[in-house]
Amino acid sequence: MKRSKIAGIGSYLPERIVTNEELTKVMDTTDEWIQERTGIQTRRYGVKHKETTSSMGAKAARVACERAGISPNDIDFIIFATLSPDYYFPGCGVLMQRELGITGKEAGALDIRNQCSGFVYGLSIADQFVKTGMYKNVLVVGSEMHSMGLDFSTRGRNVTVIFGDGAGAVVVQPTDDPDQGILTTKLHSDGTYAEKLSFVNPGAHGGYHQERIGDTTDLGYPPADTYGEIFITQKMKDEGMLYPNMEGQFVFKLAIQKFPEVIQEALKEAGLQTTDINMLIPHQANLRISQMVQRLLGLRDDQVWNNIQRYGNTTAASVPIALCEAWEAGKIQKGDLVCLAAFGSGFTWGSALIRW
Ligand code: COA
Repeated sequence: MKRSKIAGIGSYLPERIVTNEELTKVMDTTDEWIQERTGIQTRRYGVKHKETTSSMGAKAARVACERAGISPNDIDFIIFATLSPDYYFPGCGVLMQRELGITGKEAGALDIRNQCSGFVYGLSIADQFVKTGMYKNVLVVGSEMHSMGLDFSTRGRNVTVIFGDGAGAVVVQPTDDPDQGILTTKLHSDGTYAEKLSFVNPGAHGGYHQERIGDTTDLGYPPADTYGEIFITQKMKDEGMLYPNMEGQFVFKLAIQKFPEVIQEALKEAGLQTTDINMLIPHQANLRISQMVQRLLGLRDDQVWNNIQRYGNTTAASVPIALCEAWEAGKIQKGDLVCLAAFGSGFTWGSALIRW
């Protein structure tokens, strides 16, 4: 079986820089609180109604294709990871396909709804497709336009201050070089605590899961034999229930357990150790999480790339944006061992080891 490699990488960050200070004008928060708890100083927001998750993905994808030396029309398969899709359906994969002008060859497109681990999951799927010879040019994109769906009142401050917009993309191709490519990927999930980091409304659940987990919140659904208002009820609109919610401390504790576990699992399978890692690209969830993971693994500062200070948490886009930035900065060289790791809502988590 062939190996697969990352042949090209690109990212796109919208121009508008939003400081913590700017957020203090619309909600009760402070620059000090945000920096102390998350490390975030600024984030980017896309231009509303002019940019979308798929259009930003397309911009990152064009750069990745160019660096891989191919045209978007050479892409056989698209994998698009996001939690902030343009439409409920169809997915962003086909919207980006249209935006990129990929026509005539009917390339396949798959959307991944795996939140923060979406890109690592997508890379793993691309790896399987390329290794088995099914596809030669797989485009994996992570993109988010969070700013369209956040609660900018004080009620939503614990979530809103963390997230930012952006996109990252890679082209995955086969390689004959035995010393290069994706060595292994590890993927995991556990749905037990699905709602602890979630965006449940609007949805077609009708309160089903809430009843099972003992959540007595009245979502305002009409009687069961009434149709209509199944996705969005008036109560949800009136009481601001149409936003993400997060039990921050719960997420934090699980993240610092699962990140090191899944990194060690990949290293063990590849017969390698933490000292072999040249660059760890952790999902940029929170700088404090990354610092804790670094400490737990005994890594030096130069072995870990963090950019959440400037971009916030861009969910599915954070790993490819950070990977692209580290590579552009010359911190990833041919032959280096690069480790990608992510953890997020679901909960889902995963890692990938790449010999660059
Ligand atoms: N500004 C000011 N105060 C805020 C605030 C904000 N943006 N957000 C929350 N607070 C307040 C809370 O209301 C609470 O006030 P209270 O004590 O009067 O009730 C207080 O700060 C502490 O809240 P808590 O949620 O316990 O804070 P925390 O220390 O856990 O930090 C997070 C909150 C979200 C920064 C932290 O839990 C975290 O980073 N968790 C992981 C989140 C994450 O990584 N998510 C993405 C996963 S992929």
